Amino acid sequence: MKFNALPINPKVTRRNRRIEEVLDRIVRSGDRAKSLIGRGRKAPYDDHAYEFIGGPSERMRRRHYDKSLRLLWKAETHASWSDFKDCNKEELALLELANGALDTAEREQVDRMQTAEFKQLLDREYTPEQKQAIVNVLALIGHGEAYAWLVSAELLNEVKSTGARSALTMQVLEEAKHFVVLRQLIQAFDMPVPRMCAYEYVLLERTFKSKGMEKFFGMNIVVEGFALSLFGMMSHLPGLEVLRLFHLDESRHTALPVNYFSEFPMSRWQRYSPAAQLRRLSLVLPALPLFTWIEHDLAVLGVDSFDFGGSMVRKILLLADGAGFKVALTQPQLHRLVGWLFNQYCQKTRPGHVWRDYMSSDTTRGEEEQKVEVEIFAA
Ligand SMILES: [Fe+2]
Ligand SMILES: [Fe+2]
Repeated sequence: MKFNALPINPKVTRRNRRIEEVLDRIVRSGDRAKSLIGRGRKAPYDDHAYEFIGGPSERMRRRHYDKSLRLLWKAETHASWSDFKDCNKEELALLELANGALDTAEREQVDRMQTAEFKQLLDREYTPEQKQAIVNVLALIGHGEAYAWLVSAELLNEVKSTGARSALTMQVLEEAKHFVVLRQLIQAFDMPVPRMCAYEYVLLERTFKSKGMEKFFGMNIVVEGFALSLFGMMSHLPGLEVLRLFHLDESRHTALPVNYFSEFPMSRWQRYSPAAQLRRLSLVLPALPLFTWIEHDLAVLGVDSFDFGGSMVRKILLLADGAGFKVALTQPQLHRLVGWLFNQYCQKTRPGHVWRDYMSSDTTRGEEEQKVEVEIFAA
């Protein structure tokens, strides 16, 4: 390649470089000194190594970022009743092949019909009481997705390494998609959407306010365990098939802490500190009355809220144990405590209640979803 190089004064270049070197030393050593009082460089980035602090962490990138991209699904394809336009040209061409060649006006017409048809399907399949129950149950995780989006965006700045940051970036993207797609799905039922109940409010706010790696516990263990259980329970219902894809995404998110800690283990203090253990327990226990809040709605859908609760708490405890988060009590103690609390409540409120082992129930219904969970919980 031939460039017409411009004449330049080499002395000036040398002097400019020397000035910059001095300034660079002043700026960086100033930041190093300020870091002693927590006011140093903000970015956890090593520009000398062209790498984030923590290294490349390629295994983490392959397991989460690459896999998420491979499995990335588009709402336009899988939730054709929604008004999303997120397919690229090739995907649109495939869709059009499936739909026959349509011009823009025709396509808009089909989209409108699809939305109307979808609403008709919901009206055909469900009574108004059932529709409201589904909306109430889905809204729980609808609000949860908003917090998942917020928390994962913050966690992105807490993790070390290029691989872990790319993994969290995909989670942020997926939570954004979950929030907006689920919102449209819920709105398609044309029923009032309830606010968060107090138990969920406290759980999600405390998760968002958690510090450092404790965010992983609140988010990727407790809230993701909740999401996984809820999507696994609902995805077989007519009109809710898209939740299968949510379930698959959440299964990846539950695996994030264990994969991250295998490269950047928690310190003994982080794992075993009594304060942290109590905090974790105090995050989970006050959330238990949530199952009384959705008891009526789940009953409308033929599910005992405490079967769902037992199934979910068991899975959350398994995830916590796998990632190395100690929770003040052992797993058998927690099983006994939660099972006892559930049965006490039922004894007081359900005439003729017979003691049940709620902690061994499993409310995940879809076959594929069961297979996905076997993989997570067998590990
Ligand atoms: Fe999500
Ligand atoms: Fe998630």
